[in-house]
Amino acid sequence: MSLRNQPTSERAFATFVLLALATFLVGGLVSTLRRDRLGMASPPAARPRLMAVLEGVMAPNVSPAEVETFRIWIQGGATQAGSGPVEAIVANNCASCHGSGGEYPRLASLQDLRPLVLEEASGGLYAMLGARTLHLVLFPLLFLVAGAGYLRRTRWAGRRILLGTCALAVLLDVGQWWLRQGRPEALWAAWTGSAALTVGMALLVAVVLRELWESKRN
Ligand code: HEC
Repeated sequence: MSLRNQPTSERAFATFVLLALATFLVGGLVSTLRRDRLGMASPPAARPRLMAVLEGVMAPNVSPAEVETFRIWIQGGATQAGSGPVEAIVANNCASCHGSGGEYPRLASLQDLRPLVLEEASGGLYAMLGARTLHLVLFPLLFLVAGAGYLRRTRWAGRRILLGTCALAVLLDVGQWWLRQGRPEALWAAWTGSAALTVGMALLVAVVLRELWESKRN
C-alpha cells in the first residue's frame, strides 16, 4: 500500500521511526568522528578507556603492577619518550591476541594505543556499541530499514536512483572504515563517508516525509 493512503496515526508513526533513524545516524557519525579527531594532539582522558579495559575485561592479562605501569605512563601525559615499559608489556601480554589480523582492536604499536588513552571510558550508548558495530552493522541496517521500509513504497519517480545512491554511500562508508584502520592521516576518508551517509539520509527522509504529508491533490 502506498504510504500516502495510510491513516494519520500510521503516518505519524512512520515519521517518528524515520526521524529516530536519522537522529541515531547523525549521533553515531558525530561520536565516531569526534573519536577520530582525538587521535591528533590532545591530553589523555580523565578516565581513559584503556584503564577501564585493563581493570575490566582484560584484567586477566595484566598483573596489578603492570596496570600501575600503564597508569603512571598515562598520568605522565602518555608520551612517546616514556613509553618503553608500556610497549614491553603490550608486546609480552597483548600482542599474542591483538597483533595484526588478531582480536580487535589491533595493538601493534604506540599509535594503536593512543586512541584508547585519549578516549573517555564513558558508558554512553555509542561508546558501548563501538565504531566497528556502528559502521559495519548498524548504519547499513538503518539504511536498509529506511530504504526498503519507506523510500521504496513512495511513488516518487526517482526513488530507485536514490535507493542506489544510498546503497553506494553505505558501501563507501564501510569501505573507508575498513581501509583506513590505523591510518590517522586518512581522516578525510571518514569525513567523506560520513558526508555521503548524511546527504543520503537527508534526501531519503525529505522524500518520504513529503510523500507522507503532502496534501492529496490527485
Ligand atoms: C588471550 C587473548 C587476549 C590477550 C592476551 C589480550 N586480549 Fe584484549 N581482547 C581479547 C578479546 C577476545 C577481546 C574481545 C572480547 C571483548 O571485547 O570482551 C579483547 C578486547 C580488548 C579490547 C576492547 C575491549 C573494549 O571493550 O573496549 C581492548 C582495549 C583490549 N582487548 C586490550 C588489551 C590489552 C591492553 C591487552 C594486554 C595487556 C590485551 N587486550 C590482552 C583477547 C585478548
